[in-house]
Amino acid sequence: MKRLGINIDHVATIRNARGSFHPDPLTIAKHVTKCGAHSVTIHLREDRRHIKDIDVIKICKDKKIITNLEISLNKKIINIALKNKPNFICIVPEKRKEVTTEGGLNLIKNKKKIKEIISLFNKKNIRTSLFIDPTLKDIKISKELNSSCVELHTGKISNLVKENKNYKNEYLKIKKCSKLGVQLGIEVHAGHGLDYKTTAILSKIKEITEFNIGHFIIGESLTHGLKKTIKAFKKITNK
Ligand code: PXP
Repeated sequence: MKRLGINIDHVATIRNARGSFHPDPLTIAKHVTKCGAHSVTIHLREDRRHIKDIDVIKICKDKKIITNLEISLNKKIINIALKNKPNFICIVPEKRKEVTTEGGLNLIKNKKKIKEIISLFNKKNIRTSLFIDPTLKDIKISKELNSSCVELHTGKISNLVKENKNYKNEYLKIKKCSKLGVQLGIEVHAGHGLDYKTTAILSKIKEITEFNIGHFIIGESLTHGLKKTIKAFKKITNK
């Protein structure tokens, strides 16, 4: 069965718009878990534009929630992650001015640093993942760095599908990377920009075992509610 992780950063964005307490990310993390999400993703950004430190503390403390914390290479953020012990971490690149995570990690430039970070989390039995572009080179480096998992950036294929353009090459790239990842003993996940259509397309790749989806699920829930939306996604991913 493919797992579905739900990114709830947007819940914090709505809360922060009023500088108040509602909607509460912890309440929503509990709710999506009840609705069948396998894990909850939160990204503690260096500029704290959505998830705040207190959200990380509260969500990681609730052991009924499987927490996937996205972190950059920033030392302070890494220390917060080590202290709060989420179930999983996913290392992502971070640029201050980007609206969302624009591309995968630069593994070559940050090799030493990433290897050290992975080793710290592996020692604490926290599952590690690297958010990478779908290239065979990055899959091989992820193996060298001892990451348990990779999350393939699906932003490009998602845009091609939405714009009704030919996505075949990008699909094949993702498929080849997924196969190589599994051959090398790495768990392969996918995320970014996914909606019903792109998730259905990528669900055909049997090596992908987890999807992490945020924006579309939260948006769709405004019409259909989280429960129905999560149920619909689980049906697609496990067809
Ligand atoms: N996976 C990673 C590593 C991300 O950084 C994001 C965006 O925060 C997502 C998945 C979710 O992307 P989206 O909100 O476009 O579904």
